Parts: sequence; C-alpha cells; structure tokens
Amino acid sequence: MQRVAQSGLEISRSLPVSQLPGYKQGWFSVQDAAAQLAAPLLMDALLRTDKPLRILDACAAPGGKTTHLLEWAGTRGIAVEVTALDVDAQRCERINENLQRLGLQAKIVVADAAKVSEWHDNQPFDGILLDAPCTASGIVRRHPDIPWLRRDTDIANLAAQQKRLLHALWPLVKPGGALLYCTCSIFKAEGSAQIEAFLNSFAGNNTLVQSLPAPGHLLPLNCPSNQSMPENSLGGHDGFFYALLRKAATD
Ligand SMILES: C[S@@+](CC[C@H](N)C(=O)[O-])C[C@H]1O[C@@H](n2cnc3c(N)ncnc32)[C@H](O)[C@@H]1O
Repeated sequence: MQRVAQSGLEISRSLPVSQLPGYKQGWFSVQDAAAQLAAPLLMDALLRTDKPLRILDACAAPGGKTTHLLEWAGTRGIAVEVTALDVDAQRCERINENLQRLGLQAKIVVADAAKVSEWHDNQPFDGILLDAPCTASGIVRRHPDIPWLRRDTDIANLAAQQKRLLHALWPLVKPGGALLYCTCSIFKAEGSAQIEAFLNSFAGNNTLVQSLPAPGHLLPLNCPSNQSMPENSLGGHDGFFYALLRKAATD
C-alpha cells in the first residue's frame, strides 16, 4: 500500500471493494487520483460567508465527487448545502447509496441540468461542479473497451452537450462564485478548446468571467510519482481536464 495524491492510498492487490475492511462502514471511497482534484479546486475558489455555501454538482452520479466535496468541506468545518443532480434516475440511486454509506447528506435531483426551468429554484449557487459527460478517453487504461465502443461522431456530439450544459449553468453561478468544468477526456475538443470557445463567447464583455489557475489537460499516467502534477505526490492517474472559472462580482 502506498500514498497517492493528497488523501489517497493505493493498495497493491486488486480485489472487490466491498471485501475491503471498513468499506461498508464508510471509512473510505474509491476515487482516481486525478478525480480527487475536483473538490479542493472548487472549494478553494469559493468565497466564504457566514451562510452555508450553496453548491451544485450538475452531473453527479454515482456521486464520487459529491461525497468528496462534502467530506472535504466537513473536515474543514465549512458549511455546505449540496445539490447532486443527474439526468439518469438509476445512477441517482447510486448517489443515494454512497451518501448513506458515508453518512453524508445532499439533495438529489433527477433532471436534465441544461433544462434549468424544470428544476432550479432561482437561488444562485456559490459553486458549480460540471463533470460533463464525455468520451471517457482518459480512462481507457481502466476501461480498455472504450476505444471499441466509440463512433467517429462521438467527440462532436459530446462537445455539443458539454457546450449546452456550460451555457445553461453559467447564469446560475452567483456573482463572485465559481464554476469548475472537468471531463475525463484527453481530447482538446472536450477540454481546452471547449473552454476557449466559452470564454470567446463573452467577446467584448470578458471582464464578466475570469479563468483561475487549474491543471488543464492531465494525461493518464501509470508512474508512481509525477512531479509535474499539481500535487507532488499524485501517482498514477486517469486522463482529465480541469478549468476553473470565476464570475465577476459585479455581474
Ligand atoms: C462523468 S459522469 C459523472 C461522474 C460523477 N461526477 C462522479 O464523480 O462520480 C457524467 C454524468 O453526467 C450525467 N449526465 C449526462 N447528461 C446530463 C444532463 N444533461 N444533465 C445532468 N446529468 C447528465 C450522466 O448520467 C453521468 O452520470
């Protein structure tokens, strides 16, 4: 067993997670080292007030990042109200299972995140995590069937969905709040190009959105310790993309 990332342990032998001592009791979760960056990136960008921070996890199922966000805030004494939304009702049951196993609480909503009028209560969010549906090209090392399941048109179709979600959710961010966009993809169309196009859509008004420091494209790695990663001790990890956007306080 070795330490990986900020709060991970990698075990040397693979076995069903439910066989590990403490899993059912909620002592830990299984999460890739690159995915573990989401909670600290978003939480560190949020301006603290005396009110609980309202956070939306817009594509939340099965809840890996939702539960990490809640744990991250909880261990630092930061009050949060998290809405975990996903379009897939069956996958939302997995969010509920994970919350229960870990003894955490969030409001679960089954909806298309982009159809805002169907689910939103008109209260803006301090922070939004958009872990958008993608080609999953960054997790091929764990799912080697992915390249065989993809069609030529998938990148463009998924990039269009990501764009639709980004544009629909941005108005829900409070002035001064932040949106963390991520995908487990190595393709620029689902990462840097997507965000560049989003920022360009503010042409003439680019003071409304500020791009904050974030890892950008992370290529999948199997080496034990990669010093170029944001976390020095981040070991082997999936391919990922992160962009962090702040909404101007006067918007
Ligand atoms: C990459 S997975 C999310 C993984 C999750 N954030 C985690 O860390 O466990 C993408 C999710 O987006 C959901 N999704 C796809 N289109 C959506 C939409 N229009 N609105 C809400 N959720 C959507 C899918 O059902 C899927 O669960």
